[in-house]
Amino acid sequence: MAKFRINLGVTGGIAAYKAVEVMRLLQKRGCDVSVAMTRHATEFVQPLTFRALTDKHVIVDDYDPQNPDPIAHINFSQNIDLLLIIPATANIIGKFANGIADDFLSSTYLATTAPVLIAPAMNTTMWDSAATQRNVRQLKKDGVHFVEPVAGELACKTVGTGKLEDVENIVAQVLWLLSEPPTVAGGLTGQAELPDVRINMAKVQPPATAGGSDLNGERFLITVGGTREAIDPVRFISNHSSGKMGFAIAEAAAARGADVTVVAGVTTIDPPSNVNVIRAVSASDMHAAVVKELSSTTVFVGAAAVADYAPANAAEGKIKKDGRDFMILELKKTPDILAEVSKRRSKGMLVVGFAAETNDVIGYARSKMKKKRLDMVVANDITKKGAGFNTDTNIATIITRSGSEIELPLMSKREMADRILDEIVKLRKVAEARA
Ligand code: PMT
Repeated sequence: MAKFRINLGVTGGIAAYKAVEVMRLLQKRGCDVSVAMTRHATEFVQPLTFRALTDKHVIVDDYDPQNPDPIAHINFSQNIDLLLIIPATANIIGKFANGIADDFLSSTYLATTAPVLIAPAMNTTMWDSAATQRNVRQLKKDGVHFVEPVAGELACKTVGTGKLEDVENIVAQVLWLLSEPPTVAGGLTGQAELPDVRINMAKVQPPATAGGSDLNGERFLITVGGTREAIDPVRFISNHSSGKMGFAIAEAAAARGADVTVVAGVTTIDPPSNVNVIRAVSASDMHAAVVKELSSTTVFVGAAAVADYAPANAAEGKIKKDGRDFMILELKKTPDILAEVSKRRSKGMLVVGFAAETNDVIGYARSKMKKKRLDMVVANDITKKGAGFNTDTNIATIITRSGSEIELPLMSKREMADRILDEIVKLRKVAEARA
């Protein structure tokens, strides 16, 4: 018997071909996949492809006389474990968010009681548009899960956020979601067989105290997101940080009883509602905000990707090309916020850093821990699929002052946040025992 029944909705974007890869990977993990496509999706991939691989009728139009089931949108949406949409266009997101049911897939969304996971892919401007972001926020409020698009080169040859997340990461998110206990009517099946499919999560223990009160009395100050260093009024230097990791820690710490303030740089997602937010754009803004907030802090977490260098003299007016083929930009070092917090720390304050590395990850992370006198460092190997910048998942190693290394395999950033907090709670207990 199939472990999970998944209905895959494919909509009309260039990434539609990747839905075939996701479907194959899910089938390999023992899932039974049925497919529905929007009319526009069929311009990119033929229904026959999915039909040949699933051995099932692919529904595009439920009024089609070829359709074997006269009330397909009801039957297709019931008794399933997940409705998965890959890729999701701005159009389908808009329809789902506003209850429009003018084709088979949008009717199916309204009729289903199963969890829904959406993986959007579109041009950056369409993704960033106020309407799309409003619709995404609405769907999240409605309980819909998202595998957020990532930054990269898009089919339209522009670079920005809007690319479909890697297929392996989408599959990991699907399996992670299905491994959670059922929360909705008509929810998950096959729970008894769960360990077989939790391949990426096999080593993951559930968070020890998630949702408890083991951080009561702690005051967290967390830097989040990327910084933006002005070159002139229209150009800047920045990085791919989305704020997902830092906000996940903030949300989890607040859920465990801490009073949480985040100093957020540039982020692509909204902050959680249960924390105080101070906005900062550049490294020097972030530095100033942190210094101001530090006195009452008991735990500092540096999750932000702070620029190490900024233009020495940002131009007041837009820099002109003036026929030059080369231009030299003079950069100066930014304040090292984490190192300074560590230096200024009050008695009992725990200081936690992150390290985003591409090689000798543990070596560099250890040397940062020593140089900045940290209690703990979370080392991300950003070359690994599903780890680091702008993903919903992460893979990391926690290194503590005592020298221990805790490997965290692929998991959602929210789950990782709780694992990091578990280690902070242990450090606090050790510090209290020593005091
Ligand atoms: O935001 P996401 O898209 O979810 O991505 C998460 C992340 C990859 C950004 C995060 O998990 C991460 O690894 N953050 C640190 C990235 C980084 O810039 O590392 P670093 O090796 O350059 O810096 C080491 C530490 O010093 C970090 O804690 C950093 O916040 C801090 N730092 C660095 C420079 C500086 N001027 N001030 C700092 O405080």
